[in-house]
Amino acid sequence: MNYKVNFEVEKDDFEKAGEASRKIKKTLKQLGVDNKTIRHIAIAGYEGEMNLAIHSDGGEIILEVSSEKINLTIQDVGPGIPDLDLAMTEGYSTASDKVREMGFGAGMGLPNMEKNADFFEIHSKVGKGTKIQMSFNLK
Ligand SMILES: Nc1ncnc2c1ncn2[C@@H]1O[C@H](COP(=O)(O)OP(=O)(O)O)[C@@H](O)[C@H]1O
Ligand SMILES: [Mg+2]
Repeated sequence: MNYKVNFEVEKDDFEKAGEASRKIKKTLKQLGVDNKTIRHIAIAGYEGEMNLAIHSDGGEIILEVSSEKINLTIQDVGPGIPDLDLAMTEGYSTASDKVREMGFGAGMGLPNMEKNADFFEIHSKVGKGTKIQMSFNLK
């Protein structure tokens, strides 16, 4: 990998949420990545970042860029997802009423991450955490 950067995302930090995906978008623009790929990564990155803020106990986003592809890893330290099939279902959300009032909780984040990535893999363990690995092809 030619370029690697980490972004920490804190639990419940709605003031800063969205900042990491904005920085990722800016970085990719500066690296000369094409707009369509940037759009896919921006959507997937934003959904992942919001999930860290809303659903996790805190985590990080790792961006890795090479000449062939861009890897986006989104991992957290808990609480984990008990049923991944259910979590991946369009419209499924455990978001609280408070979070829904802020405009989140449509239950489309994980499905949209999968749709926008060329490679998508999610692993989760209750009590341990969740790790999502995505790749976006450049060629
Ligand atoms: N990092 C995470 N940690 C724990 N649970 C998560 C995480 N990401 C997603 N989930 C669970 O998966 C569900 C679906 O996520 P998503 O598709 O992004 O919808 P939404 O965020 O709108 O609820 C969430 O409501 C939550 O229950
Ligand atoms: Mg979400």
